[in-house]
Amino acid sequence: MIIIEGPAGNGIGRSIAAEMGVEFLECKHRLFPDGESEIELDGSVSGKDVLLVQTMYPNQDKRFVELLLLANAAKKQGAKSIGAVIPYLAYAREDKKFAGKENAVSINIILETLNSAGITHLVTIAPHKAEPLSSFKGDVKIADAITPLAQEVKNHVSDAFVLAPDKGALDIARQFAGILGCDYTNIDKRRDRTTGDVEMIKAPQADMRDKEVIIVDDMISAGSTTTMAAAFAKSNGAKRIIAAAVHLIMADDAYNKIRNAGVEELFGTNTIPYHNCHSVDISNAIAQIIRDRWSGPRRIIKTN
Ligand code: R5P
Repeated sequence: MIIIEGPAGNGIGRSIAAEMGVEFLECKHRLFPDGESEIELDGSVSGKDVLLVQTMYPNQDKRFVELLLLANAAKKQGAKSIGAVIPYLAYAREDKKFAGKENAVSINIILETLNSAGITHLVTIAPHKAEPLSSFKGDVKIADAITPLAQEVKNHVSDAFVLAPDKGALDIARQFAGILGCDYTNIDKRRDRTTGDVEMIKAPQADMRDKEVIIVDDMISAGSTTTMAAAFAKSNGAKRIIAAAVHLIMADDAYNKIRNAGVEELFGTNTIPYHNCHSVDISNAIAQIIRDRWSGPRRIIKTN
């Protein structure tokens, strides 16, 4: 097996290769004057199981095209199989037709295109929902980022309470609370699909007085959901408010928005390069899930 890190591998490919003791290659990457990417493999992958590592934020569209170019180069060289580790899988939130909209189901297009580029194994982390990934033709693995994230938060709190800002984050909250050994609950939220605004439609009955409230989610994008939850926690007497999410997109003014709403500390992972937080490395979680899947020679041929 050989691991190849794309231009947006974020160092994760190198770490996985080191952790697993398998071959590692960086790709050669340059931009044409018009901004198009040129990708070249910097070694032979012929007859090998190839694992490409490329996250999809920032610049989702470009990062996706680069991944397809990498897959094509590996296929043309005669790779035995091609897998992709996509720590942050973009376009996963449009996973169905929404009422009153004629939207494309973007996750389906992404998965179909990966398949048509010859990718037959997919590893990702905290996809928005797991079910839509079943349309991928091949093997899909979801690595667990919540455990290392919750373990890191645990080092910083003593009297915790976990708050899911919507029903979709309830499983994450349950897992977090199990690791922190504390109570949890969820808000019911509604999002206006035209403006993107969120509002709380049902407040939970929970005593947060003098607690360190941890708002947990799969991602923070524009920060509206976390802001709404932080305002609720504050009005319920939280002593301190922390936010923890796997993917810190932090679009627009999200950081200031959540800080102004009372979030004092932010925890995330390196699925997306974002530094204004406590960042947890999820390379081990990925290595764990792919270990022993492929056989073959195990040696690092290039580490810098
Ligand atoms: C929504 O269902 C997701 O789990 C997140 O709650 C959402 O994407 C966060 O978005 P924003 O930060 O823009 O409110």
